[in-house]
Amino acid sequence: MKTTKRPTAHTLPKKITDKLPEIRAVEKKKIIFLGSEAAPFIATGGLADVLGSLPKALAKNKNFDISVILPLYSNISKEFKSKFKFVMNFNVSVSWRLQYCGVFYYEYQGVKFYFIDNEFYFKREGNIYGFYDDGERFAFFSRAALDTIARLDIYPDILHCNDWQTAASIIYLKGMYYGDDKFRKIKSVFTIHNIEYQGKFGMDTFGDLFGFSESIKNFVELDGGVNLMKGAIEMTDIVSTVSPTYAEEIKTPFFAHGLDGIINVNARKLSGILNGIDIDYYNPETDKCLFKNYSVDDLSGKAVCKSELQKMLGLPVRSEVPIIAIISRLVSHKGLDLVKYALESILSQDVQVIILGKGEIGYENYFTNVANAYKGKCATIIAYNQDLSRKIYSGSDIFLMPSKMEPCGLSQMIASRYGTVPVVRETGGLNDSIKGYTVVKGNGFTFHDYNAHDMLYVVNEAIRTFKDKDAWADVQRRAMTTDFSWKIQAGEYEKLYNK
Ligand code: GLC
Repeated sequence: MKTTKRPTAHTLPKKITDKLPEIRAVEKKKIIFLGSEAAPFIATGGLADVLGSLPKALAKNKNFDISVILPLYSNISKEFKSKFKFVMNFNVSVSWRLQYCGVFYYEYQGVKFYFIDNEFYFKREGNIYGFYDDGERFAFFSRAALDTIARLDIYPDILHCNDWQTAASIIYLKGMYYGDDKFRKIKSVFTIHNIEYQGKFGMDTFGDLFGFSESIKNFVELDGGVNLMKGAIEMTDIVSTVSPTYAEEIKTPFFAHGLDGIINVNARKLSGILNGIDIDYYNPETDKCLFKNYSVDDLSGKAVCKSELQKMLGLPVRSEVPIIAIISRLVSHKGLDLVKYALESILSQDVQVIILGKGEIGYENYFTNVANAYKGKCATIIAYNQDLSRKIYSGSDIFLMPSKMEPCGLSQMIASRYGTVPVVRETGGLNDSIKGYTVVKGNGFTFHDYNAHDMLYVVNEAIRTFKDKDAWADVQRRAMTTDFSWKIQAGEYEKLYNK
C-alpha cells in the first residue's frame, strides 16, 4: 500500500508555514478543572490554593486553554460577583428533579472561570460545606458542569476533577454521557487532595438522588453504600494525588480510610505530583498584609514583623526568644495530639508559641486554656484569618506542622517562603518538601515516627539551632530559597495530560 508522507513544517508551502501559529492555536489542548473552591473567589483550605494557582500556572503555557468551573456560592464577594457576566440558563436533572442552572463567566489571570448558579443549593449562611444535602448539592454541580460544557460547546480534551465533590462528574461522564461522541472523546483526571473525605451516602441515594444507572453499581458501591470517590477512581482514566509520598501511603490501610484495596487495583493509573504555591501571592517582598516587607537578602523587615506581632498579641517584645507558630485547621490528622502532649514541655523553655486556627471544639478549648495559663508566652487565636496568618508566617521563627497524615500541605511551603523554618513529620507532602537540616543540611527539621518525644526532640533541635546565629541564617536561607513555585510541578501535570 502506498503511504503518503505527512507534511511537516519544512515540507509545507511557505504560505501555510506563515499561518502555523494560528493553526497551532486551534490545536491548543483544552483542559477544564472542576472543583468546589478556588482562591481568590472562595477558599476554606488547601484545595482552593491549588485551584487558584495551578490553572493559572498552566495557562502561561501557550499550548493550553484552561478553564475552571465552580459553584456560584453566595459567599463569593460582591466585588467579584459584580464582574461576572451572565451567559445563559437552562434546567439540569438531578435524578427526577429538574433544577435551574445559571452560568456566569469571568476571565481572571489568563484562566476562564465559569460559575454555576442555583440559589437553592449555593445560597447558604456561613460555610460552603457541612449541610445535610451536600450530596445533592454536588450531584447537581457535577451534572450542571457537564451540561454547561455541552450547551456552550466547550468540550475539553481533559476534564480534571478534584476531590469527592466533583467525583460524580467522572461517573456521569464515563457511565452515562458516554453515548455522546463528543463526551466519549474526553479523557479524565481525578485528583485526590485528601482521601479521608470520600463522599459516602446511603444506597437509597444511588438512583433517587444521583440518578446513576444500574450498570455502574459495581464501580460506585462500597460497603453497601454509595462512595463517590471510589466510583471516580474506578472509572477515570488517570488518578493523581498531591505528593509522591502520599501516592504510596494511600496504598496502605493506615492512610487509605478504607480505599486501599481500590487504590491498589488501580495503582497503574495512579501518580503523585507535589503541589506548588503561588510565589507571587506569597511573597514577603510585596505582601501587603505584612508589617514590613523583606527579602532573603535583607531580613531587617522580618525583625519588624516579629516585634509588631509580639506587640499585637500581647507577648513581650524580645528578638532573642524564638516564636514557634502553628497555623492549622484544628483537627486530629494535623498531629495536634502530639502538640498537646509536648506543649507544656516546650513552654517550660524560653520560647513564645502562637496558635491560629479553628476546628474541633476540644482542641479549640485546649489551646485557649493553655494560652490563658501561659499569658505572655502563648497566644491562641481561634479563627481562619488570611491577614493574620501572613502576619504570623512573617513574624515567627519556627513553624510546627507534625501532621499524622498530610497529602501535601502548603503551610510548610508558605512558612519557608517567609523565612519561618518548618518542623514537620515525615509524611505525605511534608516528606517530599522538607529535609532535615541537621541530617542532610536541608531546609527544616523533621522526625519520622508519630511520637510526641520524637517531635519534642526536633523542636528542641530547632530551638538550639535558632540560638546559633550562623546556623540559623543558613537553614533560614535554605528554606527561603527552596523553589516551591508551580514551575516544575506544572510541567509534571503537562506530562500527565500528554499521556
Ligand atoms: C488538602 C490536603 C492538603 C493539601 C491540599 C491541597 O487540603 O489535606 O495536604 O495540601 O488538599 O492539595
